[in-house]
Amino acid sequence: MTIPHDGHHAHLPEAPRVDAARYRLDRMLVGDVTDIADVERRCFTNPWPASAYRRELQHGDQNYYVILRDITTSAPNTDSSQAQSPSIGRRGLLPIGLPRRPRAIAKDPVVGFAGMWNAFDEAHLTTIGIDIPYRGRGLGEALLVAVFDEAVRRGVNWVTLEVRVSNEPAQALYRKWGFSVQGVRKRYYSDNGEDAFIMWSRAVSDVDYYAELVGHRAALLDRLNGAVLGLDEIGPEPGLVPPAGKPPWE
Ligand SMILES: CC(C)(COP(=O)(O)OP(=O)(O)OC[C@H]1O[C@@H](n2cnc3c(N)ncnc32)[C@H](O)[C@@H]1OP(=O)(O)O)[C@@H](O)C(=O)NCCC(=O)NCCS
Repeated sequence: MTIPHDGHHAHLPEAPRVDAARYRLDRMLVGDVTDIADVERRCFTNPWPASAYRRELQHGDQNYYVILRDITTSAPNTDSSQAQSPSIGRRGLLPIGLPRRPRAIAKDPVVGFAGMWNAFDEAHLTTIGIDIPYRGRGLGEALLVAVFDEAVRRGVNWVTLEVRVSNEPAQALYRKWGFSVQGVRKRYYSDNGEDAFIMWSRAVSDVDYYAELVGHRAALLDRLNGAVLGLDEIGPEPGLVPPAGKPPWE
């Protein structure tokens, strides 16, 4: 979570421990799309075709997609000229002179992905998935944080999503991050006619909610213990908290 500017950096996470790194989070590029197809199929009964991702990725100002790769199964690549994607969240907050970090390259196995589109002060979480063997390690939360961070950076105050009424793990994840059910879309899913819950976050500009998000983020970084490169580089950004407003569903 991007942390509200309070004049000091009390919440700034520590620099990641490179020796503990297992995963690399990057902004998704068109070149990543074919790599995510298998994970997409294992995550969803109605997977998006590659063409849908390609279309989305053409509008980077309205969309934001991230990809998480396992960097332990191939030799760490420290040559930035070979890096497949620019790492996300580089804000120049780290001291110059740190050792170069391994960066994900295309052949590193895909662990998961997530994305959103944003318009005005709302963002829509369009997808989030973690491959089956990697679930239950906080990585879904890490993706949610990455998307949330960028949403807030873009001036978003509310985040919404649809989720299958039967998808309890995902609903639990969203509830943990302050989302609640505000409506139902009947027969939303074409594969089996299942209904979708429409969930909304609370207002990011609500100081209590923001404090909750900051707390969750800190707990997650603690749990991950430097395992996800690219996530814990994101730090405070001044003046980003959007103005308060009426919830979009009211
Ligand atoms: C939803 C999904 C992304 C969660 O990823 P994950 O990496 O396993 O989740 P995390 O380990 O980060 O869990 C974060 C929180 O989510 C909730 N959660 C995750 N899996 C859960 C499960 N099986 N049962 C109950 N709660 C669960 C918990 O609140 C958990 O917090 P905790 O670890 O403090 O208990 C993953 O299950 C997935 O890819 N599912 C298939 C795709 C999908 O359904 N996407 C959502 C579409 S709306």
